[in-house]
Amino acid sequence: MLLMGLAILTLCGCSNENGKVEKSTSDVVIETIMTRRSIRQYKDEPVSREQMETILKCGINAPSGSNRQEWEIRVVDNPEFINGCTEAWKKTLDADRLTKMVDENFKNMFRNAPTVVFIACPKGTELNCGFLGQNMMLSAWSMGIGTCCLGGPVQFFRTEAGAEYLKKLEFSEGYEILYAIAFGYPDETPDAKPRDWGKVKFLD
Ligand SMILES: Cc1cc2nc3c(=O)[nH]c(=O)nc-3n(C[C@H](O)[C@H](O)[C@H](O)COP(=O)(O)O)c2cc1C
Repeated sequence: MLLMGLAILTLCGCSNENGKVEKSTSDVVIETIMTRRSIRQYKDEPVSREQMETILKCGINAPSGSNRQEWEIRVVDNPEFINGCTEAWKKTLDADRLTKMVDENFKNMFRNAPTVVFIACPKGTELNCGFLGQNMMLSAWSMGIGTCCLGGPVQFFRTEAGAEYLKKLEFSEGYEILYAIAFGYPDETPDAKPRDWGKVKFLD
């Protein structure tokens, strides 16, 4: 009987002294991956610097070719930068685009996030930055912090109007801005987007 009880406990996960079943580490990792959603509405408060440090450490622990870590990361939670950038960006939009993008929930061009991370790398090393970003997005989600990967806003930094803000990010010579990630405490709970299992094939 005792052995059977132990076997059932092992199959169902571990029980703590309150009788609650605890999830295994792999359960938690899988749950984090499967529940992450892109968040586009955030509370106003920026993510604490302490939490951002943990997220950034997870980021730079991503694999990179020959461990060269060819990335540069800039963290911005200064409303002056975010709002200044957004005002300059708005001026580059035509009337139609402005009405479409700036709706009643609009706070800023970074999907309304109070904290934004910008990532740059030399040409040809983009894959490393993808791993870096995914580590940051998943670690953030596991801490209750929402994220949204942002390719769109980066176009702005390549315009004349955006050059002033790109300069403020102080990326090194030879490094090109690749994408940004929005971070913040979520203020929405979007549904999962569909995934296409048809893209996957087992080869016999
Ligand atoms: C390279 C890349 C660029 C993206 N750029 C934007 C963007 O500019 N604006 C935006 O709202 N979402 C952007 N996204 C988020 C995707 O729209 C989102 O990941 C996708 O719809 C799946 O939804 P999920 O992240 O909630 O699973 C981007 C995602 C990736 C990977």
